[in-house]
Amino acid sequence: MTRKATLTIDGKTIELPILEGSCGPDAIDVRNLYQNTGLFCYDPGFMSTASCSSGITYIDGDQGVLLYRGYPIEDLVEKCDFLDVAYLLFYGELPDSQQRELFEQSITHHTMVHEQLRSFFQGFRRDAHPMAVMVGVVGALSAFYHDNLDIYDAKQRETASHRLIAKMPTIAAMAYNYSRGCPLPYPRNDLTYAQNFLKMMFALPSENYQINPVVAKAMDIIFILHADHEQNASTSTVRLAGSSKANPFACIASGIAALWGPAHGGANEAVLTMLKQIGSKENIPKFIERAKDKNDPFRLMGFGHRVYKNYDPRARIMRKACHDVLDQLKIEDPLLEIALELERIALEDSYFIDNKLYPNVDFYSGLVFKALEIPASMFTVIFSVARTIGWVSQWNEMMTDPGQKIGRPRQLYTGQTLRHL
Ligand code: ACO
Repeated sequence: MTRKATLTIDGKTIELPILEGSCGPDAIDVRNLYQNTGLFCYDPGFMSTASCSSGITYIDGDQGVLLYRGYPIEDLVEKCDFLDVAYLLFYGELPDSQQRELFEQSITHHTMVHEQLRSFFQGFRRDAHPMAVMVGVVGALSAFYHDNLDIYDAKQRETASHRLIAKMPTIAAMAYNYSRGCPLPYPRNDLTYAQNFLKMMFALPSENYQINPVVAKAMDIIFILHADHEQNASTSTVRLAGSSKANPFACIASGIAALWGPAHGGANEAVLTMLKQIGSKENIPKFIERAKDKNDPFRLMGFGHRVYKNYDPRARIMRKACHDVLDQLKIEDPLLEIALELERIALEDSYFIDNKLYPNVDFYSGLVFKALEIPASMFTVIFSVARTIGWVSQWNEMMTDPGQKIGRPRQLYTGQTLRHL
């Protein structure tokens, strides 16, 4: 029997159905609330609002659990590579060997970008932030794939999605090489997704580039950990843009824009800046006090999460990856010492305990990126490369949802009432 919530307003009682998920909180169906009561729900920031139903990613924020299509993130990092995970997110199941081969073929066949797209880069200043370049160039892809794209055709949506997964590393590596005045790279389709990305990032035409397997493995883990995270700000942006049936390349560009902010994907860059600013372990208490001071806008970057009120499982994997990478590459990074000590002190501090503020994935990812010699300005770009599979999977799911409507929130109006000149 369907559970119902009752709501009494001004003496009138209405019943609201409760929708059941397969795990996690159920949801009160308020779709008819306005029609039945003339009232809206007020929920800025979607603190208590499920904007859609989805079968892709599940997070239990209290327990610190993350599942992609039911599989724990820890298992996927241990037993799969990024393309397996990408297939899983997009199609719902892990691929068998034939499916994997076909998928890999399709992704590698789409890694090149149109030669004309390369000229877009010349329009940017060399010192432009690569995320600005990503927003522009990925948005520009929509100009290359618009006229013949039927988003109501599943096959064409699949091809557009494969194109995006395949071209994002190419565009990201082009953005990096443009910023450092190097030739724009071409992909190599005999390499894995992570290896190809590293080669495009760092290889120069004048030298041999040896791909370090430790670095390639770390990059693959980074891609898996960032692949999807249910209805976060950038994914919700992609869905909202897509709900108007906009071109998917333009929708992903809007997701990149949302990801850029330091409250979301930009946090890993901000963590490194903060660790440098802290400078030495002795300064940590001062910064902890600043983070607790309500009159100081400073926040401990890489701490806290809208959903995780426990240790972010991705942060745990990233913490281990960070130790592995630094050990194997024999790097001693004083910033890691500061990070470990900062984490230790914060986790014992009542402010962070009471507010359930734990390290999130960004706390250690910046240190791993640094060890891989990836500049800070590229951190969020790499996040966007990894998250593209999540974005296109969510977009596809939305496009096949029979109950899908254009996203159109309402408001609580607090401005002037009617007045005349
Ligand atoms: N440092 C200090 N205090 C914090 C922090 C922090 N990092 N995060 C939250 N708080 C405090 C807030 O000031 C607030 O206190 P109050 O209730 O007394 O006002 C309380 O904890 C609750 O925090 P909110 O900001 O209300 O939580 P919300 O869910 O809106 O924000 C967010 C989550 C944006 C991630 C926040 O924790 C933050 O800014 N963290 C730092 C940035 C960061 O690491 N972002 C990466 C997120 S992960 C990702 O996008 C991949």
